[in-house]
Amino acid sequence: MKITRFGERFSGSTGIVDLMEDLGAAGANPGSCMLGGGNPGTLPEVESHFRKRLHEIADDPVLFHSIAGCYDSPEGDVGFRSALAQLLSREFGWKVGPENIVLTHGSQTGFFILFNLLAGRLGDNSLRSILLPLAPEYIGYSDIGLESSIFKAEQPHIEYLDEGFFKYRVDFKRLKVTPETAAICVSRPTNPTGNVLSDSEIQQLSELAALNNIPLIIDSAYGTPFPNIIFSEASPLWNEQTIVFMSLSKLGLPGVRTGIMITNQEMVVRLGRANAIMHLANGSLGPGIIHPLVKSGEIVKISQELIRPYYQQRVKQAIQWVKSAFGKTPCLIHKPEGAIFLWLWFPDLPITSQELYQRLKTRGVLVIAGEHFFPGIDQPWRHRHECIRVTYSQDEASVQKGITIIADEVRKAYSG
Ligand SMILES: Cc1ncc(COP(=O)(O)O)c(C=O)c1O
Repeated sequence: MKITRFGERFSGSTGIVDLMEDLGAAGANPGSCMLGGGNPGTLPEVESHFRKRLHEIADDPVLFHSIAGCYDSPEGDVGFRSALAQLLSREFGWKVGPENIVLTHGSQTGFFILFNLLAGRLGDNSLRSILLPLAPEYIGYSDIGLESSIFKAEQPHIEYLDEGFFKYRVDFKRLKVTPETAAICVSRPTNPTGNVLSDSEIQQLSELAALNNIPLIIDSAYGTPFPNIIFSEASPLWNEQTIVFMSLSKLGLPGVRTGIMITNQEMVVRLGRANAIMHLANGSLGPGIIHPLVKSGEIVKISQELIRPYYQQRVKQAIQWVKSAFGKTPCLIHKPEGAIFLWLWFPDLPITSQELYQRLKTRGVLVIAGEHFFPGIDQPWRHRHECIRVTYSQDEASVQKGITIIADEVRKAYSG
């Protein structure tokens, strides 16, 4: 069978493919410690809201038909988009209506469409790219471009903090917007590090985008108003030049595949058309489940009172386990300000993080090697091979066991 260039790029093996395959394999092998994927934790109190609504849908033939029995419009159900626009106006004062919101089949697919719409080859054959101001960045962006290299990134400034923590900061001195830059994009909170860009960093990026007349994309998969997995102070930002992406996944609904993009009307129309071409319409179940919670605003309360405290408690616990398991073995922890991961840095580790990943896998512990999280950084940088991402959202026993085994393998690696 002959495979096209597209086929080679999109059916080959990559970091995100390994990650999702590990996730599937871990499901089939319950003994393994799955500290690699991005699955949210199991929060029965939160799930009970979704289950109750599913019963309501199943018991009401008209409602069931409206959700499961017909295709939505390519931009997504207008009733849901109106309810969300009202919530965003109420909560944040954003001047948005349903015409500023478009749904996608998960935000991953939304990013695929958006990035390829902005970056890649233009009609005149020039190449445009997405600027990622803060590396490391989300692994899921890495292989998304139809052109092989649509990202440019800069090394961050590393700030050393007390008690074995550190934090990446945007290095504005290095950051260069050029005529080839199509957009600036950050995840906030950042996957993999749990960093939350400060208001002042976001403001500077927004000004840089405005100055160059390009969009600032803020990936808010873990952000406000839901699921709100943010442990530090951070004000949300949106304006006509900003594209905010939200998702239902980290609320606890990754299976319903719903992404939400808040943007200007032209982009809504364009994304809607791309939706129609790629999959006719989005799945209606996700919006159908959370519509009443968005309309009443209860989703904000659920996020603040149930989801955020759950992860805040889990991260505190995970840090204690790391500290006691590592003892004097070198291990710096990125200050976790949000999301569901710990980013661990082992300075001068004698093996690469990919080798460490392999060794851990043979012991039944799945993590993600740090080197996959640097899309757009082409120059060699040892640091990227010295870090791993550890997800702490899964059951406590396997997170604790996994951390103990990681510390053991890292210790072995240092002692040669
Ligand atoms: C930062 C970030 N953006 C986007 C996504 C994609 O999420 P989904 O396609 O489930 O909406 C993820 C998933 O883990 C993520 O961590």
